Amino acid sequence: MKRMAFLLVAVASVAGVVAFMAPVAGHADKQAAPIFVTEIPPGYRDWRLISVAHEEGNLNSFAAVLGNDVAIKAYREGKRPFPDGTIIAALHYGHVPSEENNRVFGRVQSFVAGSPTNIQFMVKDSAKYAATDGWGFAHFKDGKPADEAFMKPCFPCHEQAKASDLVFTRYAP
Ligand code: HEC
Repeated sequence: MKRMAFLLVAVASVAGVVAFMAPVAGHADKQAAPIFVTEIPPGYRDWRLISVAHEEGNLNSFAAVLGNDVAIKAYREGKRPFPDGTIIAALHYGHVPSEENNRVFGRVQSFVAGSPTNIQFMVKDSAKYAATDGWGFAHFKDGKPADEAFMKPCFPCHEQAKASDLVFTRYAP
């Protein structure tokens, strides 16, 4: 019985702490300067495929969009907003013709991934990245993070995908 009472007190104090902390998180300043992600999330190359994209114009790239386990689960369950812990990676490569493949096909039709150009991430942490709707943005070229000026347009453009929690890519079945 004594143990039970102790347990109840313990549960009550944890609940108290959570209740005390909740308004602090809720008050996060929307005007605060955005925080960018400056370290490459480990293990991203082993994540699962969400979809692919090809950009023409100046980008002329292929993108493989991958998600960690939290991201894949949310996608498959159609859960929005994405929960904290979600990380989405966009691996970008040059869009280059393959003469080797064209020779096999007997005509010019093949394009493959060229050298990697950059890697981008969106990391969900609704407290840490409250100023940018809970998403931390990251861009790495040759393993190095981009500077703040480069990162400025990420959020305003992704904000246009508000209906899908700032994420453009849909899950490819
Ligand atoms: C002009 C608008 C625009 C800007 C600026 C922009 N993005 Fe995107 N981003 C998109 C669109 C559209 C897609 C989906 C198409 C694609 O993947 O090519 C996308 C896809 C992504 C994805 C895959 C998840 C998703 O939302 O589909 C990540 C990660 C990403 N962008 C990160 C960034 C980062 C980091 C920056 C800043 C360095 C950035 N983006 C700047 C428009 C933008």
